[in-house]
Amino acid sequence: MSGHDYDLVVRGGTLASAAEVFEADIGIKDGVIAALGRNLPRGAEEISAKGMIVTPGGLDSHCHVEELGQDGTAQEESFASGSAAALAGGTTSFICFLPQWKGHSLAASAPGYEARAAASRADFSFHQIITDPTPEVLEKEVPALIARGIRSLKVFLTYDPLRLDDRQFIEVLATARKHGAFVTVHCENFDAIGWRIEALLKAGLTDPLQHAWSRPPVVEREATHRAIALAELVDQPIQVFHVSCEEAAGEIAAAKARGLKVWGETCPQYLTLSHDDLVGPDFAGSKAVCSPALRAKGEEERIWKRIQDGTLDVVTSDHCGFSFATQKRVAGSSAYGTGTAAARPDGTPMFNAIPNGVPGIETRLPVLFSEGVSKGRIDLPTFVRLSSANAAKLFGLEGRKGSLAPGADADLVLWNPDAERTIRQADLHHAIDYTPWEGFSAKGWPQVTIRRGEVAVRDGEVLAQPGSGRFLARGPYALARPRGVVPDGFDAASA
Ligand code: URP
Ligand code: ZN
Ligand code: ZN
Repeated sequence: MSGHDYDLVVRGGTLASAAEVFEADIGIKDGVIAALGRNLPRGAEEISAKGMIVTPGGLDSHCHVEELGQDGTAQEESFASGSAAALAGGTTSFICFLPQWKGHSLAASAPGYEARAAASRADFSFHQIITDPTPEVLEKEVPALIARGIRSLKVFLTYDPLRLDDRQFIEVLATARKHGAFVTVHCENFDAIGWRIEALLKAGLTDPLQHAWSRPPVVEREATHRAIALAELVDQPIQVFHVSCEEAAGEIAAAKARGLKVWGETCPQYLTLSHDDLVGPDFAGSKAVCSPALRAKGEEERIWKRIQDGTLDVVTSDHCGFSFATQKRVAGSSAYGTGTAAARPDGTPMFNAIPNGVPGIETRLPVLFSEGVSKGRIDLPTFVRLSSANAAKLFGLEGRKGSLAPGADADLVLWNPDAERTIRQADLHHAIDYTPWEGFSAKGWPQVTIRRGEVAVRDGEVLAQPGSGRFLARGPYALARPRGVVPDGFDAASA
């Protein structure tokens, strides 16, 4: 017995929750928030948060860590390195992906992947990717997964061999509805992209910028519309992942206005980068290749507007671990690409065979804080909703993560709002060899990250050890509870 009411008191900070900003001390006991108030009694340990803004730890509900693709392409980020980077950037929990390899059961895909996650320093959970929704997968494996607390599914409407056709997507939606899972969707039209790629390659256009030309906003808008329509058909809640353009955001806004259970996610790359970043010497544009693609300069402000009007609910990193030297500029590593090993004379890949995705698990929150809060685009409660609280609601972690209320896990970030930093690859903790935000000026930086009451990072030094993160099993919740085979009213309507 220490003789103290609290193991740790974070004292004198300005607290920002999803709803308000207020001054209080935080008393922590056994890894959870025990009390909020002014002049709390001394704890066994004390941290001064004077002059700091204290937010809940970030929840990054979309990142790819140590994923092993069916084509053998490995994401170079390990759970130990990716979680160190996450914590250094103020993210205390993340949700990454259990792959399904086409032609394989869920259990037989990417063997050992789930066990490797035990090396994480941050808390973690999984979405299950469904690429091959056989009756066995839908009727046996998905319910077993849900029973283990993995209550969210991810489907792709593009990429070969990951994509589902409409009928398969409907089957996944119906399974989620029946057994109680949430569904997330990558929305782009595969055939439209294929047609554009062929035309561009025939014209001899092979640069990274042409990746964006091959998948213009209409391709994303069409698939977003279709995903929402099919989710409406089944009456199944969905989140549209990584919205990059106003055209797709407009579909989500219209669905929300009609009362549909549709949520939108975007990422810092769509808020700060553009076509300009897809161009550069020595194939540098490949560093910013991701799907959906970056858009023409100016589109970023339209995405900010969709954050401000509540259309987009969550900002995630969509972190991908493809280094520039070993994967982005090397023909043959086609993960999440649309082509095979097509090489140009200098050995770099054609645009359609560049691995898709950018690293950003560490920079997600500093970029959002700087561009959002410091530049006055969003207030602090909005920052908290985008960075953790809304994801906690959507993915069954409400009350536990993304909250400063007593009873929540004591995941906290102490932000120095005045710290001015230039983002440099050399200072980051990820295992990837570049950042698309190299040279970016940020105002506001996480000084201390606390995960379940323990100081995980202080002044950039990661103290949390590999293996100290915990798996977050998720029980049934409002958006993911079993609701029968067919939509409400179906029987009445057909009677
Ligand atoms: O380009 C991206 N986003 N790569 C990662 C896979 C995905 O689509 O989420
Ligand atoms: Zn995606
Ligand atoms: Zn992704």
